[in-house]
Amino acid sequence: MLSSFIYIITVSFLASALAATTTPIATSLRVKTTSGLIGGHLAPNRTSVAEFLGIKYAAAPIGELRFEPPNRFAAPPGTFYEASEWPPVSKFPNFTEPSGLRVWKNFAAQNDNPLIRGLSSSQHLDQEPGHLGQEAGPGFTIPGPHSPFFNGQYLADAEDVVVVTVNYRLGIFGFSGAPGLMQNVALLDQRSAVEWVRDNIEGFGGDPSRITIFGQSAGGASVDYYSFAWTKDPIVAGLIPQSGTSLSFLPNTKEYAESLWYNVTQTLGCGGPSDDPKEILSCIRTADVTTILAAAAKVPALPTQALAQATFHPTIDNATVFADYEARAAAGRFARIPLLVGNNDFEAGWYKLSAWAARINLTEAQWDLYDERAFTCPSAYTAGYRVRHGVPTWRYRYFGDWDNLRLYNGSRGAGPPGQWRVPRVRDRDGLRDGSGRVRFGEQLRGRRHVTVHDGGLGRVC
Ligand SMILES: *[C@@H]1O[C@H](CO)[C@@H](O)[C@H](O)[C@H]1NC(C)=O
Ligand SMILES: *[C@@H]1O[C@H](CO)[C@@H](O)[C@H](O)[C@H]1NC(C)=O
Ligand SMILES: *[C@@H]1O[C@H](CO)[C@@H](O)[C@H](O)[C@H]1NC(C)=O
Ligand SMILES: *[C@@H]1O[C@H](CO)[C@@H](O)[C@H](O)[C@H]1NC(C)=O
Ligand SMILES: *[C@@H]1O[C@H](CO)[C@@H](O)[C@H](O)[C@H]1NC(C)=O
Ligand SMILES: *[C@@H]1O[C@H](CO)[C@@H](O)[C@H](O)[C@H]1NC(C)=O
Repeated sequence: MLSSFIYIITVSFLASALAATTTPIATSLRVKTTSGLIGGHLAPNRTSVAEFLGIKYAAAPIGELRFEPPNRFAAPPGTFYEASEWPPVSKFPNFTEPSGLRVWKNFAAQNDNPLIRGLSSSQHLDQEPGHLGQEAGPGFTIPGPHSPFFNGQYLADAEDVVVVTVNYRLGIFGFSGAPGLMQNVALLDQRSAVEWVRDNIEGFGGDPSRITIFGQSAGGASVDYYSFAWTKDPIVAGLIPQSGTSLSFLPNTKEYAESLWYNVTQTLGCGGPSDDPKEILSCIRTADVTTILAAAAKVPALPTQALAQATFHPTIDNATVFADYEARAAAGRFARIPLLVGNNDFEAGWYKLSAWAARINLTEAQWDLYDERAFTCPSAYTAGYRVRHGVPTWRYRYFGDWDNLRLYNGSRGAGPPGQWRVPRVRDRDGLRDGSGRVRFGEQLRGRRHVTVHDGGLGRVC
């Protein structure tokens, strides 16, 4: 059964604010939105915070809407939605090796229903909050808003922000490559979510003029892509791409994306390049999700030296995704919005897992080069071009290393653990139980540990 809800939202309030009202919590946590009247509840681990889960912001992308741009959802008058839980999600895939998968299991709860997407947010009522939207990565394939790692309650509790986490269509459902259709509808889902935040966040105590979007890996690239795609009406006032920018990953060409699409439509018996595209579409739109996913999973990834390239992912369309980000950045063709960008010192620690699984054996020097090309230099260049065009810019590089965040142990070959892909900004209880880590998290959030560079184009990376 497909969820009719495609986005999910969590909003949080401070206890002090709740204490100040005589209205019982159950009736005070009601917010009028374009998605109807939404009922919230106190967040389970931060009872000073309330959350709203499962708010629909676009029509379910099923039937004729499958592979199409999102349709903003407008609730019929009188709609009440009790935003009490996430839609049903599937169990995480069965990984057994290596030992660090304990961390990975916490990192992203798997959801095999690509039609479910999410948002979460939180706020302090006694101060004037901005708010943060997080576009979950990584790889444009791993969903996350319902994962503990992306749960907004901790950041909401610690900072004066409303935290919104966004889910969007993944894999073939978000990046079909279908000829004749809009490409990259996943990125349009993200835009639609930002518009929802603009239109509704005030009801949650947020300030629509101070929206900052942030994301990690594919989410980081999404944030940067956004700044190139929406130069005219960016809506947002801040950008935080983490461990991924428009310069990190290679988008698909239109032709390659089409070949992937046809591979799936042929597997499904819906036709190929010589058939009527309309008939192919109506055929695949009646196929069930599991069948489509199974066909998409059979499409082989492009071989690369270090890791498998995602198949159904951003495709150059010259509207949402471009072929020439570096030239565009050099020419200042991005929304001139303050930017905080950075990456971890040893991103490769994570990719070594997939290399290990694919029996790829790189030297340490090759892994260093990989870190440099995919992350450290893209961060430096992305920062540098903004600086060159007078945009307020901050850059960090994260060197933290904590026992309980290690993916695996060993010499440099396997670590230094902790400096892998997940920035520590999103603390969650189970991962911040050591005083050092808690202090570091506070300092990081207080920005005392964020190193500010002047961009240093061609020098820092
Ligand atoms: C997980 O995979 C292991 C190794 O392949 C297997 O022995 C085990 O039965 C699997 N567990 C589940 C729940 O599928
Ligand atoms: C709440 O805390 C418990 C105990 O630490 C933990 O198991 C659970 O995952 C947390 N829930 C969320 C959503 O973070
Ligand atoms: C899909 O691509 C793979 C690899 O190129 C190929 O083996 C397979 O036959 C293709 N399937 C179809 C239906 O074209
Ligand atoms: C995008 O623009 C480039 C340069 O103008 C052009 O070569 C390319 O064909 C365009 N691609 C698409 C998919 O429109
Ligand atoms: C990987 O390469 C290293 C260094 O070249 C070598 O010592 C090691 O045996 C190789 N491992 C495998 C599994 O091939
Ligand atoms: C790494 O080694 C430390 C110290 O021996 C141990 O406490 C920790 O559990 C190990 N971590 C992993 C992921 O194996």
